[in-house]
Amino acid sequence: MIIAANLKTNLTRKQTTEYLNTLEGLIQTSKSTQEVLVFPATSSLIPHAGHIIVGAQNAYPAVNGAFTGEIGAEHLAEFGITTILIGHSERRHVLGESQEELVKKFNFYKELGFKIVYCVGEPLSLREAGEEAMMEYIDAQYEGIDLSYENLIIAYEPVWAIGTGLTPTLQDIEELHAKLKEKCSAPLLYGGSVKVANAKEVMALKSVDGVLVGGAALNVNDFNAMINIAQELEKK
Ligand code: PGA
Repeated sequence: MIIAANLKTNLTRKQTTEYLNTLEGLIQTSKSTQEVLVFPATSSLIPHAGHIIVGAQNAYPAVNGAFTGEIGAEHLAEFGITTILIGHSERRHVLGESQEELVKKFNFYKELGFKIVYCVGEPLSLREAGEEAMMEYIDAQYEGIDLSYENLIIAYEPVWAIGTGLTPTLQDIEELHAKLKEKCSAPLLYGGSVKVANAKEVMALKSVDGVLVGGAALNVNDFNAMINIAQELEKK
């Protein structure tokens, strides 16, 4: 399974280094074979060798240039980063990234062969508007994305479940994931208020290939516990 931590705007470089070193040690001890991704804040990116794959939460679709406040591909290359998160709801809804901009990022980093975790998910108003409106909204987030890209991972994260402690029912997750699986055969993660207490039941769902964890991943022992839960589930 794929277990990913989105550290968002948390943990300084020093704290991130400690986090990664601690997690590497825990994984070495448990001999976990799960795919583990960690996305630190941009200024906390560090070169990292080991089991954990460190990725970027964002980057501009250019090698370098006049894009104030952004970083480009050469800044990621300096840290050996070849994994990126694109389409996270906070970038879509708080930072106002459009589907068109996301497609540009996707295509640029696809050309460079990056592993791309591409996020989709509906706000509460769309979930409440009914199945058809909700699926139309989610379908639009797939527009322009090469769904046959070999290094693609999709993360379904309902916006209303992110950082709120709310989650869809297990049945809702399973049904929606099954629909999304019909659109694309890439691994499909669930994200939105995943924590140690619910990780097992979520990851046990047939159409869930892993989880993208925000708040609950900030505690390295909790994140490691979720990696161990994935390992246990795979053994069965
Ligand atoms: P959360 O965030 O686990 O804190 O809900 C998930 C995410 O934003 O990826």
